[in-house]
Amino acid sequence: MEKTTTARTLALMNQKGGVGKTTTAVNLAAGLARLGQRTLLIDLDPQAHASLHLGIEPDENQPSVYDVLMDPSLDPSSAIRNSGERLDVLAAETDLAAAESELAPLADRTSRLGNAIGKLAHHYDAVLIDCPPSLGLLTINALACAHQVLIPMQAHFLALHGVGKLLETVKMLSGSVNPELRVMGIVLCAYDAQASHTREVVADLDDFLSSAAGTGEPWDGARVLGPAIRRNIKLAECPSFGQTIFEYAPGAPGAEDYEALARSVLDRLASNQTQRTTSSLDAEIHVKPQAQPAEHLP
Ligand SMILES: Nc1ncnc2c1ncn2[C@@H]1O[C@H](COP(=O)(O)OP(=O)(O)O)[C@@H](O)[C@H]1O
Ligand SMILES: [Mg+2]
Repeated sequence: MEKTTTARTLALMNQKGGVGKTTTAVNLAAGLARLGQRTLLIDLDPQAHASLHLGIEPDENQPSVYDVLMDPSLDPSSAIRNSGERLDVLAAETDLAAAESELAPLADRTSRLGNAIGKLAHHYDAVLIDCPPSLGLLTINALACAHQVLIPMQAHFLALHGVGKLLETVKMLSGSVNPELRVMGIVLCAYDAQASHTREVVADLDDFLSSAAGTGEPWDGARVLGPAIRRNIKLAECPSFGQTIFEYAPGAPGAEDYEALARSVLDRLASNQTQRTTSSLDAEIHVKPQAQPAEHLP
């Protein structure tokens, strides 16, 4: 008998490109599916990288996420493609680029995605949204309906730049159409523990997140999630084969890291409690437990 749970929705967002959003969206979705979660991955980036990563080619006979957004009368399940056990995809094609301007004049321009997910949610335990590298209407649609936000990032100094703007956008949505929106945390991608600046960047991030404790901000309780995803060439190779890391190189560090991240995310998705004080933090990166406001962050 089919379960009637309603999915938890997680938006992977960072307006910078090349930080690991898509790699994380695809492999985290596959990791959650392997943990028994009925998972839907929504490719909301006109570059369609997540779709291509899973070997999904444009198909003129099947609607894509663009059609779902532009035609509210369309049954969104007609656009779903299967990509393995418990893993479905709402794929993008390059026509999605037009959606930003075509949605703009519409009164319900920020709620189109949420309405579609609402019709699908009872089929899934988790919905992951791979956002485009911008803070435009597509990302706003994701933030308007997500329960939580995960921010993939690389641990170099410029990566911190822009976090303020990103959180401002989250706050704007949580202050209006989506009061329950919370930031789950930051996941560090292509992590190199040997690089000298890495620990400093992690410490800055940790300080900033700690300093939000008790403020009631949507990132109050967010964490640098463990584990960091190590730099691993297999993760960069697997999209060319249309495979997840679990299919392409199941023994690689990338598979190990994304499996562990999936466990960590599942724990937080299920409870929707981003404030933790106990054992689930053991695996997480804590460089400086003491809160110090980071000057360069809001
Ligand atoms: N942990 C990692 N190790 C090695 N390469 C990675 C890792 N994570 C991402 N990459 C590579 O970095 C590039 C950018 O990652 P991607 O996930 O596409 O970022 P975004 O979606 O934020 O633009 C891609 O070529 C990807 O294969
Ligand atoms: Mg991407």
